[in-house]
Amino acid sequence: MLAVAILAAGKGTRMKSCLPKVLQPLAGSTLVERVLTSCSGLQPQRCLLIVGHQAQEVQQQLTDWQGLEFVVQQPQNGTGHAVQQVLPVLEGFDGELLVLNGDVPLLRPSTIEHLVNEHRSSGADVTLLTARLADPTGYGRVFSDQQGRVNSIVEHRDCSDEQRHNNLTNAGIYCFNWKKLAAVLPQLCSDNDQGELYLTDTVALLPIAMHVEVADPDEVNGINDRCQLANCEALLQERLRNHWMKEGVTFTDPASCTLSEDCQFGRDVVIEPQTHLRGCCNIGDGCQLGPGSLIENADLGHGVSVLHSVVRDAKVRNEVAIGPFSHLRPGADIADQCRIGNFVEIKKSQIGEGSKVNHLSYIGDAQLGRHVNVGAGTITANYDGVRKHLTVVGDNSKTGANSVLVAPIVLGSNVTVGAGSTLTKDVPNGALALGRSKQLIKNGWQ
Ligand code: UD1
Ligand code: CA
Repeated sequence: MLAVAILAAGKGTRMKSCLPKVLQPLAGSTLVERVLTSCSGLQPQRCLLIVGHQAQEVQQQLTDWQGLEFVVQQPQNGTGHAVQQVLPVLEGFDGELLVLNGDVPLLRPSTIEHLVNEHRSSGADVTLLTARLADPTGYGRVFSDQQGRVNSIVEHRDCSDEQRHNNLTNAGIYCFNWKKLAAVLPQLCSDNDQGELYLTDTVALLPIAMHVEVADPDEVNGINDRCQLANCEALLQERLRNHWMKEGVTFTDPASCTLSEDCQFGRDVVIEPQTHLRGCCNIGDGCQLGPGSLIENADLGHGVSVLHSVVRDAKVRNEVAIGPFSHLRPGADIADQCRIGNFVEIKKSQIGEGSKVNHLSYIGDAQLGRHVNVGAGTITANYDGVRKHLTVVGDNSKTGANSVLVAPIVLGSNVTVGAGSTLTKDVPNGALALGRSKQLIKNGWQ
C-alpha cells in the first residue's frame, strides 16, 4: 500500500510573488502539477496535498485531479509540521508514505519508482533521494556511511563551515514506512536557525535510514527563487527540443525556441528562430514555423508555413501559407491551399479551400467558400455594438479593395464586389455589387 503526500503549503518567500510558489508555471504547467504527474504512475492508494498559504488558489487550480485529498496546514511551521498534519488523515494506514516537496518539478517517474523499489527491498524505515551537486548551496546536506545509511540531514543554514563542504544533498523526496514515521513525528523540535519543525530531522530518529543517489542531478533541482525557475525552464526546454530533434524536427536556432509538452510534430518540420509553441499543438509533416511566430493550441496539417505570425486556438489544414504578420484567433479554420497574408486578422471563421485573404483584412464570424479572393482591406463588420453577426461568401467570389461587408449578410457564389463598397444587403449569385457614391468631376474647379 502506498500513499503520497506532496508539500505545497509554503509561501515561497524567495519568489517575491503574489502567486503561491507551487503555482508558478514551467513549460506550460505549474510546479505542483508536474510533481503530481511525476508520481501518478505509481497509482497510490491515497494522494494528499498539504496546502496552507493561499490554499484556496492552489485547490482551485487542481479541481480536475481525481482523488486528490487536500490537507490544510495552518500556520506553516516547517516541512515536519506539514507532515504532522497527515497523522489524523492516515490513521490506521499500513504501508509506505512517499513525501515529495512541491517545488521539485523535474523528477522522472522512473526515478521515483526506483526509490520506492529500493525502499521496499531494503526494508529501511526511510529511504531518501540524494544528489551530488556541483553547487549544493541552499540544500540540506546528507551525512551517511559507505553502506548508504544516513545518520543525519543538516540544513545549509544550520551547517558548520566544514559540513558545508559535503556536497551530498537532500532532494526533498522520501519514502517512509508510515507507521514508523507516525511514531516519531510528534518528537520533532524546532531548535534550528528557522525555528521550524523539519521533516529532515526524522531520519535521525528512525533506526534505519537509507539513501539512493539520483543518476541525473538535474532532476532534483528545487525551486526557491526566479533564477532557479529560469534554470529549470531552460533544462526542460532543452529536454523537449532534444527529444523532438531525435524525432525528425529541425531547429535552426534551438535555444531561441520554446515548446510545451503537449506538442506533437510530424517529420521534417522546420522551426526557425524565435518561435514558440504553447498549449496543445499538433503540427503535420513538412511545416515551416517561424521565424518569429507564436502558435498556441493549434492544429496544423502538412506543408503549412507560418512566418512572423500568431496562431491561437485555430485549425489550419494542408499546404497553407500564413504571414508575414497574420493573426489567427480562436475559431479560425483555414482549409487546404489557402493563403493568409500581411496584417490579416481572422476570428471564428471558416475559409474555404484555395481562398486568399492576402492583405490588411479583418474576417470575423464569417464563412467563406472555395477560391474566394478577398481584396486588400476587406472588413467584415460583424458587431453592431450588442451582438455578433454572420457573413457568408459563396465560392469563387471576389471582394474589391476596401470593401465593408456589414453583417448579417450573404454574398452568393461568383459575386464581384466593387472596390470601396459598403454592402448591407445580400447579393445573388453571379452579380456585381457596388455600394459607393458616384465619382463627381467638377471641371475647372481650380
Ligand atoms: C527542503 C529540505 C532540504 C532539501 C530541499 C530540497 C527541509 C527542512 N529541508 O529545503 O533539506 O535539500 O528541500 O529542495 O525539509 N512546505 C510546506 N509547509 C511548510 C514549509 C514548507 O508545505 O511549513 C513545503 C513548501 O511549499 C515546499 C516544500 O515544503 O514545496 C519545501 O519547502 P522549502 O521551504 O522550499 O524547503 P527548502 O528550504 O528548499
Ligand atoms: Ca525548496
